[in-house]
Order: sequence, then structure tokens, then C-alpha cells
Amino acid sequence: MLPLLLLAPIAARSANVLVCYHSITNYTHQLAAAVAEGALQPGVHVRLQSIARTDVESDMLQWADAIVIGSPVHYGNPSAAMLAWFERSWEPFWKDPRFEGKLGAVFATGGGLAQGIEHVVASLLRLLASFRIQTITPAPTRSGYDSYGAIAVTATWPFNASNLAIPFVQAGQALGSLVAAAALQAQERSPGNWPRPQPSDSRYSASSRGPF
Ligand SMILES: *[C@@H]1O[C@H](CO)[C@@H](O)[C@H](O)[C@H]1NC(C)=O
Ligand SMILES: *[C@@H]1O[C@H](CO)[C@@H](O)[C@H](O)[C@H]1NC(C)=O
Repeated sequence: MLPLLLLAPIAARSANVLVCYHSITNYTHQLAAAVAEGALQPGVHVRLQSIARTDVESDMLQWADAIVIGSPVHYGNPSAAMLAWFERSWEPFWKDPRFEGKLGAVFATGGGLAQGIEHVVASLLRLLASFRIQTITPAPTRSGYDSYGAIAVTATWPFNASNLAIPFVQAGQALGSLVAAAALQAQERSPGNWPRPQPSDSRYSASSRGPF
């Protein structure tokens, strides 16, 4: 009995991490796979899926403890598909209190070194913040690839290969691992019971719609 009892608190640590991406050239899919790989730790369940296959109610609100989203850079902005996903699929849940207490993080891939990739990272962070998801950013460094999220440059020498350059893959893995650790820690603080606002809170109602 004793060994089982000692193991029990460890077994109770578990968290679900959802990694969602939109990808056309497959580079964002590759970075998403690196994030998912980094998130795979004991006690952590990971789902890696495209936004088209992701259901906001069942995958996000019911299943995920942490949500990591990634987009390519399209003309300096997140892809239209990513923005449309928020405007169509997330919008009905704009004020859903279940988003509060979830953790989030972001990643982006772009052809150029300075063609909007940081703007896309910032835009994705704002999208998550609009739903009151607490975002996790890597520790700041002077020489990193990942200060506000993970990124990968894909069409500029010397990074212009069909597979992502190794430092970008490592930054993706590090972000996934950070998110998983934070999700586990949050579960430990409050096992199976995220801090949530009271349903009677007048800010929230089933009919709440987005700001447009
Ligand atoms: C896209 O990337 C994923 C993740 O690295 C990989 O599993 C898949 O085979 C790639 N698809 C294509 C068409 O290259
Ligand atoms: C990467 O860019 C360099 C410099 O423009 C070019 O010579 C090289 O062929 C490119 N490599 C690939 C795989 O496109």
C-alpha cells in the first residue's frame, strides 16, 4: 500500500495541452509539432491539430487546460483563416468564463526576418488576451528566437530550407515544455479546479456576443 500512497500525489498531476495551427506551406505545422513534442511530459496529454479540426466547445473549453496557437505571417498579419477562426468560431464564446484560468501561448512562422513576424506574435497574444486567457511567454533573452512566443523564419538565407532550422525547432520545443510545466503547476495549486468567476457574475451571460 505504501508505495501506491506515495505515488498518488504524482499521479494526480495531469494537464491537457492543445496545440492548434493554421498552415499552408507546412512550416507552421512543423513548428506546431515541435511545440507539441516539447509539451509531452509525464502527466501531460497533448493534442496537435489544425484550426479547421478544432472545436472551441469540446477541444478548448471542455478539454484543454492550455491552448497554444500558431499562424503564418501573411502580408504582415496572421493568416485570414486564423483571424476568421476567431471571428466565427471563438466569437460566440467571447465572455465564456471557462476561458479564464486557462493558459495560452503563441508561435508564428514567416518567410522574412523582418516582414511582420513579431506583429503576428503580438496579434496572436492579443487574440488570446481578448478571451482573458493568461499567456505564457518565454524568459527574455538578448539573443533568443522566442521572447514573446516561438518563431521560425523560413525563406531567408540561411534558414531557407524545407525543414525548419534547428534553433527554431528548439525554441518551439522549449515553449511547449514551458507551457506544459505551467499547466501542471496550475493543476497542482488547484487540482481539477481552476479559479473561475461565479456564474452569477453579471459580466457573463449566455447571450453575450463579441464586440462586433
Ligand atoms: C508537415 O509537417 C508535419 C510535422 O512536422 C509532418 O508530420 C508532415 O509529414 C508534413 N507534411 C508534409 C506534406 O510535408
Ligand atoms: C537559400 O537562399 C540562398 C541565397 O539566396 C540561395 O542561394 C539558396 O539556393 C536558397 N536555398 C534554398 C533551399 O532555397
